Amino acid sequence: MAVQFGGYQNEIYLQGLGDKLPPFTTDPTRLEGLARETFDPGPFGYVVGGAGSGATVAANREAFDRWRIVPRMLTDATTRDLGATVLGQSMPAPVLLAPVGVQSIVHPDGELATARAAAALGITMVLSTASSHTIEEVAEANGDGPRWYQLYWPNDNDVTISILHRAKAAGFSALVVTLDTWTLAWRPNDLDQAYLPFIRGIGNAVPFSDPAFRALLAKSPEEDPTAAILQWIPMFTGTDKRWDQLPFLREHWDGPIVLKGIQHVDDARRASDAGMDGIVVSNHGGRQVDGAVAALDMLPEIAAAVGDRLDVLFDSGIRTGADVVKALALGAKAVLLGRPYVYGLGLGGEDGVRHVVRSVLADLDLTLGLSGNRTLADLSPDTLRRT
Ligand SMILES: Cc1cc2nc3c(=O)[nH]c(=O)nc-3n(C[C@H](O)[C@H](O)[C@H](O)COP(=O)(O)O)c2cc1C
Repeated sequence: MAVQFGGYQNEIYLQGLGDKLPPFTTDPTRLEGLARETFDPGPFGYVVGGAGSGATVAANREAFDRWRIVPRMLTDATTRDLGATVLGQSMPAPVLLAPVGVQSIVHPDGELATARAAAALGITMVLSTASSHTIEEVAEANGDGPRWYQLYWPNDNDVTISILHRAKAAGFSALVVTLDTWTLAWRPNDLDQAYLPFIRGIGNAVPFSDPAFRALLAKSPEEDPTAAILQWIPMFTGTDKRWDQLPFLREHWDGPIVLKGIQHVDDARRASDAGMDGIVVSNHGGRQVDGAVAALDMLPEIAAAVGDRLDVLFDSGIRTGADVVKALALGAKAVLLGRPYVYGLGLGGEDGVRHVVRSVLADLDLTLGLSGNRTLADLSPDTLRRT
């Protein structure tokens, strides 16, 4: 039975009869403003910020605005099915939670709250290597929920293998390898506040709990956290990687592999030629290359080139149900939600994540139906008009 995500709307109105309001706004455009009022300045700047002038963050949103949905009538879209199949896995909706590191900077429960909220909704969470809780703790919080693991590919092979084994043993079914962040971009929001979570000891739970990483240290991270942090930071983002090293991951990961951060059609083809199972067309939410092309602008060409050979996912700029419709119509099989759920986490912990995700899914369900579509298969470039 397809989940009727739009039902969140009736739930909210009915609860209003008992004077109960939603935990915070249902308006996706107000989340950032609420977070600005609520979060500490360092964490807020880290989450909202982009590379350089912020031009790529803005471009991601402008690209969505240029596409408009053309609604169709009398199509019997009263009951929708948002079900999707990605990497052979059935999903109740084509939305995953993007890998976001250092979540404890906005809420002490961090990734554990996200894992619980995702599991309650049956939505797949992607856990970051920069998590503030260990792989095993997050898996336990996620229980039977579907989960993928995002790798920042360490320069040390033993550490990489150890992390991959731990993720597999903890029930993470797919590997997402992020390629666009082998070093941090120039990020004025963080630089102006001299605020980088990792240096402050946040977001290092995965290496600090890793036997292969600990074996490299003269003193344990508990005895000498600074030395451990300084060992990890230059190692963890994978500065020495090239295309011809991908077989190493195949050898040590038994399951689907997805490359995240693809923006050029030739890189998408290379991913396919290398036997990858999926890609995420993404510019990391505009956090890496200032002045980069909007991720959405590259999606149609990439989906047309490789969409029949691997699963094309998308992120960078998804805020509303309409945004999801647009990305799917332009060729994505599913999308990753990023900053909005992190605002939800900071505003309300597990309940806050659940509220934001349910809101996006309800909006998606209703927008899909009201534009005359019953399933995701009904969406195509014809659903949209470029303005
Ligand atoms: C605070 C923050 C931390 C992030 N950390 C990671 C990470 O650890 N690994 C990763 O692959 N992507 C990371 N990302 C990028 C997201 O996975 C995703 O690509 C991005 O948030 C999409 O852009 P949007 O939030 O504007 O939609 C991070 C994004 C934010 C906002």
